Amino acid sequence: MRIGVLVSGRGTNLAALLEAEARGALAPAEIVAVVSNRPGVRALELAAAAGKPAAVLDHRAYAGREPFERALLAALAAHRVEAVVLAGFMRVLTATFIDAFPLRIVNTHPALLPAFPGTDAPAQALRHGVKLAGVTVHFVDAGVDTGPIIAQRAVPVRPGDDAATLHARIQVEEHQLLPAVVRALAQGRLVCEGRTVAIAPAPGAGDAADADQLV
Ligand code: GAR
Repeated sequence: MRIGVLVSGRGTNLAALLEAEARGALAPAEIVAVVSNRPGVRALELAAAAGKPAAVLDHRAYAGREPFERALLAALAAHRVEAVVLAGFMRVLTATFIDAFPLRIVNTHPALLPAFPGTDAPAQALRHGVKLAGVTVHFVDAGVDTGPIIAQRAVPVRPGDDAATLHARIQVEEHQLLPAVVRALAQGRLVCEGRTVAIAPAPGAGDAADADQLV
């Protein structure tokens, strides 16, 4: 399955996806394009270093969400992208984009949704005083971090945490979970009924190793 990755920043999730692909842990998913809405970000350097076609579509250069999303769709179509991963992509997408990839867009979010959607989720979690934080990978719908949940991992909040230390702990899990979900998507193992996503067992998975940690 041909995957386009949308990014906006540091690209540590993109790095995790590229690393998984390099060791054969993403197949049959294949990253064929990376698009950033921000110029000059580290994610673009990572894409280039991995030899992936990378483009910048600066949302500020467009007259609104719809023309921006049409340009995004065209950029992905040029690489025959079949599914999209939002890996730290900090723009809300509308039906213009979402309807082009039904149940083929996944996002990773650094909170246990439906708690703390939107921006600065680790800081929101700390302000609320939760004891468990985590990461959610979900299908994207037209809301903000509201789509059907595919997989979650929890991490503890520790005394003395600030947003950066908590986010770093969340990202350790995120960097494992996102590639595993992308692989499962490409394998056709994600079955969405209403809001519930079932994950079929990995082909050949035995008792010993559900290596993708999803079931
Ligand atoms: C990730 O932790 C991702 O979950 C979060 O941004 C970070 C990007 O890191 N996304 C959101 O908050 C979306 N609402 P990265 O650029 O290093 O992958």
